This record gives sequence, structure tokens and C-alpha cells, in this order.
Amino acid sequence: MKKILITGGAGYIGSHTAVVLAEAGLTPVILDDLSNSSESVLGRLEEIIGAKPIFYKGDCNDRAIYEEIAKDHEISGVIHFAAFKAVGESTQLPLKYYRNNIGSLLVLLDFMQDKGIKDIVFSSSCTVYGQPDVLPVTESTPRKDAESPYGNTKKVCEDVLVDFVNSKPGIRAISLRYFNPVGAHPSGKIGELPNGTPNNLIPYITQTAAGIREKITVFGDDYDTPDGSCIRDFIHVMDLADAHMKALDYLSQQEIDFYDVFNVGTGNGNTVLEVINTFEKVNDLKLNYEIGPRRAGDVIKIWADTQKINSVLGWQPSYSLEDSMRDSWNWEKGLK
Ligand code: NAD
Ligand code: WQD
Repeated sequence: MKKILITGGAGYIGSHTAVVLAEAGLTPVILDDLSNSSESVLGRLEEIIGAKPIFYKGDCNDRAIYEEIAKDHEISGVIHFAAFKAVGESTQLPLKYYRNNIGSLLVLLDFMQDKGIKDIVFSSSCTVYGQPDVLPVTESTPRKDAESPYGNTKKVCEDVLVDFVNSKPGIRAISLRYFNPVGAHPSGKIGELPNGTPNNLIPYITQTAAGIREKITVFGDDYDTPDGSCIRDFIHVMDLADAHMKALDYLSQQEIDFYDVFNVGTGNGNTVLEVINTFEKVNDLKLNYEIGPRRAGDVIKIWADTQKINSVLGWQPSYSLEDSMRDSWNWEKGLK
């Protein structure tokens, strides 16, 4: 069975991707330093997959840990999730973000080249588009100056991959630009585990519903959108996980020294208020929410053009916003 190294595989998107890979007959090898995840995820994964996942606790900036993994396993490809992702913190601690997010990719690429490991799927983000002038955004929509050091690390990492592949190192790489990942595994056994007070919409909603937060504030209802609140493209984490599987499949069919980039979203935008209403409806509860001021620096509206990933990778989302809101709540309830 092919072994795929999943850096950051104990985290939110990585753990769901480990499930999808295992169910497709691949063997995930997880490398995570648990800086933003918990070892308990491994037991949860075992319950879902039916086998204990192979796990290495270590830092993706440390070449020695890769050598240890390579000694034990023949790795066919890598999915590189490991990164810090708190936008606000990145403005306070930019070096922490540049060092971890860019540094880890450099160490990993060196390792891959030395060991002849060809394929890498990289976690990029729709944040590289900033507030686009034309919607929906295609992969050729110009990237904007990043609004945060975090966002900049994603742009720089994309550029690193382009430059590296151009140097003909024998690598095939895909950057997936995720829109807004939401939802959880339908079993409720794995999901997003935010550290402290959540910054993102869905964990804030579920923690409010659970009584951990008193209320959720909608950041502005006077934007130029149908109900005045911001618009995002919310993609179920299981669909997102599946896109990684399809990207790996596709890479294995390409000539070496290949690079491409794909949006991963549903192709639909939903407003923040629509999300709240959907959450209330599918879960049959009332959320305590209020309208507050705009959040500084917020993108007003963005959603993906998904024609490229649909046609080239043969990937389609199969979960609805309703599914996402049900699964997110199911996960939160299980945390009590
Ligand atoms: P997450 O924090 O849940 O998972 C990341 C994992 O990487 C964590 O388990 C953390 O412990 C680990 N990690 C971080 N630095 C590491 C290091 N140096 N060595 C080893 N492990 C390390 O985040 P996520 O939401 O699953 O995001 C995964 C990737 O997707 C990240 O690169 C993130 O920037 C990107 N992304 C996330 C979103 C989102 O909204 N969740 C959107 C776009 C892109
Ligand atoms: C979504 C919408 C808020 C919380 C972040 C990162 C970005 C990317 C995706 C990684 C916005 C509104 C939120 C709340 C609210 N991540 N909101 N009340 O802004 O799309 O971007 O995640 O690459 O880099 O910045 O996601 O979940 O923070 O916000 O009204 O309490 O929900 O204003 O319109 P966002 P988000």
C-alpha cells in the first residue's frame, strides 16, 4: 500500500484527509508536533479507520525527523498541511509565521529531492486573492498584496513551489487554494479544535450554541451584499479532504517537474446571516446573535470558480451547507 506523509495530519483538515486516504487504500503517515492539535485525535482516527495511524511527533522544520520517517517507510507522496494559521497572531509575531510556514516547506522540499519523493500537495488559501475585483475567482485571478504575514506565507510558499519546479528538481506539485473549510466527519469523532477563543465563524457559532460563548456578533450588515453581511464559500472538510486524494491521483499521472494550482470551494457564496439561519434551521435551535460593527480588514465577498478542479481533477463537492452545519454541531456536542 502506498504511504503518504501527511504533515499536520493531527490537525483539522489533515485528520479528515487521513481518513479519506485510508479509506481509498493508502497508508497515511502523520507527522505533527501537536502545536495546534491533540494526540487524542489519533485514537479517534483509529476508531474511524479501524487501524492505528502511523504517527511521528516532530517538527517539520527538523530534517532529522524526516530522515527517521524515511528509514522506517517508503514514502510515495506528501501532503503538507503543517503551518500556523492565526491571521491576527501573525501580525504580532510575523517571524514565527515566516519561520514555520515557509521554513518547513524548504526543509521538506530538500528532503523530497534528496530521497526522490516526487509528489507534493500544498495547503494554500483563497487569502492569496484578497478582495478580488471580479467574482467568482478563477485560478488566474491576480493575487493581491497579502493582508497579513500569514497570508503572505501562502503566497511565498506558492512562489517557492513554482521556482523550485522550474529548476527541474524532479518534483510534481499542486497548490490547493482552500476557501472556507467547515463541517466535521459525519461520525462526530473528529473536527476542528480551536485553541482558545475562536476567530472563525463556524467554531464561534457552535461554541455559542453550546453555551461556551454568550453570543456571536455578526461583523457588519451594511455591506453591498443581498442581506448586508459578508459572503464566503464554505466547503465541507470531507469534500476538501477528497480534493487532496484527487490531486495526488492526478499528480501521479503527470510528467515530472509539474506544477499547478486549483481552487477548492463549492462555487457558491453564502452570507454570514444565511449561515446562521441554516445552522438554526438544520439543528432546530436559536442562536444568540447580534449585529456589530464591521471587522477591520474583512474581505467583503469572495467565492470560487470551480470549473478547473471540476474538469481537470474530476472533483465535485457532495456535501451541502446544511450538511456542514449539522456536522459542525454534531462535533461540538460530542466535545462536552
Ligand atoms: P490546524 O492547525 O488544525 O492543523 C495544522 C497542524 O499542523 C496542527 O495539527 C499543528 O499542530 C501542526 N503543525 C503546525 N506547525 C507544525 C510544525 N512545524 N511541525 C509539525 N506540525 C506542525 O489547521 P488546519 O485548519 O487543518 O489547516 C491546515 C492547513 O490548511 C494550514 O496550512 C492552513 O494554513 C491551511 N488553510 C486552512 C484554512 C482554514 O480555514 N482552516 C484555510 C485555508 C488554508
Ligand atoms: C468568515 C465571515 C467574518 C466571526 C479566514 C482567514 C483566511 C482563511 C479563511 C486560511 C467573515 C464573519 C466571523 C464572527 C462574524 N484561512 N464573522 N462573526 O474571514 O474568510 O478568513 O479564514 O487561510 O486567511 O483570514 O474567515 O471565519 O474569520 O470569517 O461575523 O464571530 O464570518 O466577518 O465575514 P475569513 P472567518
